[in-house]
Amino acid sequence: MATKEELIKGPNDDISAEWGTIMRYTYQASKAFGLRGAELREIFESEIQDELGHAVFLTDVIVDLGGEPTTVSKVFEKPMNLKEMLELDLKMELEDVEHYSQHAKMAEELGEVELKIKLEEMAADEAGHARELRRLL
Ligand SMILES: [Fe+2]
Ligand SMILES: [Fe+2]
Repeated sequence: MATKEELIKGPNDDISAEWGTIMRYTYQASKAFGLRGAELREIFESEIQDELGHAVFLTDVIVDLGGEPTTVSKVFEKPMNLKEMLELDLKMELEDVEHYSQHAKMAEELGEVELKIKLEEMAADEAGHARELRRLL
């Protein structure tokens, strides 16, 4: 059975991951050169909007739960070629799916119905991002 402290810590780590993803996609969009790079840039820019929505939502959640939302971004690797960028992004998106699924279960155990559903929706968003990335690899 999850505790409320764990339900604050889990999604707070997710916020850090989201800020990291926003920074990683912003950075990668700028470093994506060539014709394929130009396409990637558009994809990164649209995904940044989804990740920003996740970060904003979770920041409100932590405050509502009585915690202090983190403003620290998770550090990320910086591969220089497009294929390695996409492989890293796919790996990170799949980790996010896993984390949101785990935290949705914790929210359910604690009777936080809305949070459970939102976290599952976010797991689905990240799975969609992973699917898009897989098509590009
Ligand atoms: Fe996200
Ligand atoms: Fe994502």
